[in-house]
Amino acid sequence: MADGVVYRLATGPEDFAPTYELFLRAANDLRTRSHRDLLDDTAARRTRALAFREHAFRHDAEGFWLAESDGQQIGFGVATARPGFWHLNALHVVPEFQAMGCMAYGRDGKVVSTVISEAAQPISNALYARHGMYQWLPLVHVECPVFSPDISARGRARTSRVGRLNEATLAALDRIDTAALGFTRRVDHQLWIGLPDLSLLLLEVAAEPAAYAYVSRFGGIGPCASRSTRELPNLLAHSIHRASEHGLDHVSLVVPGIASNALAYLLAHGGRYDASITLLLSSTPFGHLNRYLLSASDALF
Ligand SMILES: CC(C)(COP(=O)(O)OP(=O)(O)OC[C@H]1O[C@@H](n2cnc3c(N)ncnc32)[C@H](O)[C@@H]1OP(=O)(O)O)[C@@H](O)C(=O)NCCC(=O)NCCS
Repeated sequence: MADGVVYRLATGPEDFAPTYELFLRAANDLRTRSHRDLLDDTAARRTRALAFREHAFRHDAEGFWLAESDGQQIGFGVATARPGFWHLNALHVVPEFQAMGCMAYGRDGKVVSTVISEAAQPISNALYARHGMYQWLPLVHVECPVFSPDISARGRARTSRVGRLNEATLAALDRIDTAALGFTRRVDHQLWIGLPDLSLLLLEVAAEPAAYAYVSRFGGIGPCASRSTRELPNLLAHSIHRASEHGLDHVSLVVPGIASNALAYLLAHGGRYDASITLLLSSTPFGHLNRYLLSASDALF
């Protein structure tokens, strides 16, 4: 542990914006070193990042840590725990305090499950491997022009509708998450359904919700989950149709390398890989990630 570094839990909203700014500094320093475009401090990114911190503070206060030196914030970490699933959503140290052992405090034998890392960041990948999280799947970031999918040709028994926040919707989301991920996370759905830029799309097969997707007015599609791999292209067709109704000209998605029918569908319709590739690290394989696309615009899984 670095000398003079003090660790404390987040205490409230006063920690939200500074940890977002700390994230931008650490992430853009890494991006500069790997010759990539910098992340802009856009209203969409800041709004979503603050909403995520508020959500984590409300539901996972014991997983939201800050590191300070001389009263200055020098690092932070956020982890969220759902039944049977632990995810390290963020871990960042300002450049001038990196490689000084600031993150050593995390090595306390706590059960660690998953984290998403930058493929271009050997330091964090090695750190996570030493904590028992191994590189499992590449996550491919895809940009796709919005086109007009012929959703009527994709099976008459399939329809989609906007899901509202109620018990029936949450129960349907639980069933789909259980089939795709092997765990449920109602609090996260409650957040996403309540966000003004997101709409929840439910794909129904024979009048039963079989898959869901969140479509953002800013162009992100995800998370998306399906009870069967076969329905994933149908779900994407309905989601892109929804994006075209929002007037978007392109969408962005984060696709596990194993979800090959989703990737094939997007590439066949003009999708192209973004320069970013991230990795899903896990202490053990879980769920059926060929039925899943990750959140496109926040740090939640
Ligand atoms: C990844 C990060 C959080 C690690 O925090 P840190 O405080 O620098 O880590 P520590 O000083 O505790 O070092 C952890 C290990 O990495 C090694 N390490 C750290 N920086 C290194 C460097 N520049 N070169 C080589 N090794 C390095 C340390 O020697 C240590 O190894 P050890 O466990 O064998 O002793 C920090 O570097 C960071 O914020 N990077 C930019 C943002 C980022 O990539 N976040 C992770 C996103 S997935």
